Amino acid sequence: MKIGIAGTGRMGAAMATRLLARSHSVSVWNRTRQKTEALERAGAAVAATPQELSTNADVVITMLTDALAIDATYRGGQGLLAGEIRGKLFIDMSTVRPEIEKALAQSVRAKGATLVECPVGGTVGPAKEGKLFGFVGGEIADVERARPVLNDLCRRVEHVGSIGAGASVKLAINLPLLVYYQALGEALSLCRNVDIDPARLIDIFADTSGGPNMLKVRGAAIAATLQGKETTPVTFDVNLIRKDLRTMLDEAQGLSVRLPLTSQALERYDEAARNGIGASDATMLPAYWLGHGQM
Ligand SMILES: NC(=O)c1ccc[n+]([C@@H]2O[C@H](COP(=O)([O-])OP(=O)(O)OC[C@H]3O[C@@H](n4cnc5c(N)ncnc54)[C@H](OP(=O)(O)O)[C@@H]3O)[C@@H](O)[C@H]2O)c1
Repeated sequence: MKIGIAGTGRMGAAMATRLLARSHSVSVWNRTRQKTEALERAGAAVAATPQELSTNADVVITMLTDALAIDATYRGGQGLLAGEIRGKLFIDMSTVRPEIEKALAQSVRAKGATLVECPVGGTVGPAKEGKLFGFVGGEIADVERARPVLNDLCRRVEHVGSIGAGASVKLAINLPLLVYYQALGEALSLCRNVDIDPARLIDIFADTSGGPNMLKVRGAAIAATLQGKETTPVTFDVNLIRKDLRTMLDEAQGLSVRLPLTSQALERYDEAARNGIGASDATMLPAYWLGHGQM
């Protein structure tokens, strides 16, 4: 099976690396071609346009920033939908609103192809190791078609409903995680007079109800930021967090539900971005708050 991947940013490139390691035939396209060079050296073919990518692949995975990126990559002049795609399968793994996935599924269906959505939990490391968590939305038969590829990328694949359901669940999962970065910064500011090694303090948080699962994985990086270290390479940046929180708030408005904590967290992260850490890793946020949270 020939797999095409459109969008080789941090996550798309990690997924391409994983699929190459699983001996799949992989071709890639990215708006900024430079980000395909390492993958080309690792054995991927590089398509000149999304149209060329979808024409030459059996299955096309997309991993793009947001709705605008999806629109440009699928519906642009030489977009994925302009290729010879009848009977083919598309898997969109971007984090966007359910309505974006529903509209995309319709556009794909109109060209005689099918789409399932599979936004994921987990970052670059798990993507390289095939240990993501996939939240799948789509028709059962289409999901079963996608499952062999998804099983190579994910430690767990949950089919949560029809198209749009995956996006809803993904946004919901990310909400407490993203609010938590601010909560942790505020919690740590209550300990500012406690003379304790930051690594030990974070370890205590991680072993109690003060810490979510994320702390077990990213706790060491967070502790290092508390000692003045910058987290590199960046895997999930503050600007992506802001994009996700905005997406959640838009979705909540559509559903007529209030998300006051989410709004507050977004205000704080917008401020953090204005203060220069938009492109920094999310793990920098608690340390940022310790430096900026004084009255
Ligand atoms: N990073 C994580 O830990 C993580 C985890 C789970 C889910 N996600 C989700 O995965 C998606 C990708 O995240 P990422 O971390 O890989 O982001 P990223 O490194 O910023 O990559 C974004 C990708 O989207 C492309 N893109 C953006 N705007 C475009 C446009 N107008 N036209 C065509 N392509 C466009 C970029 O192309 P260029 O290279 O040309 O800019 C790049 O390939 C997002 O929806 C994110 O929320 C991320």
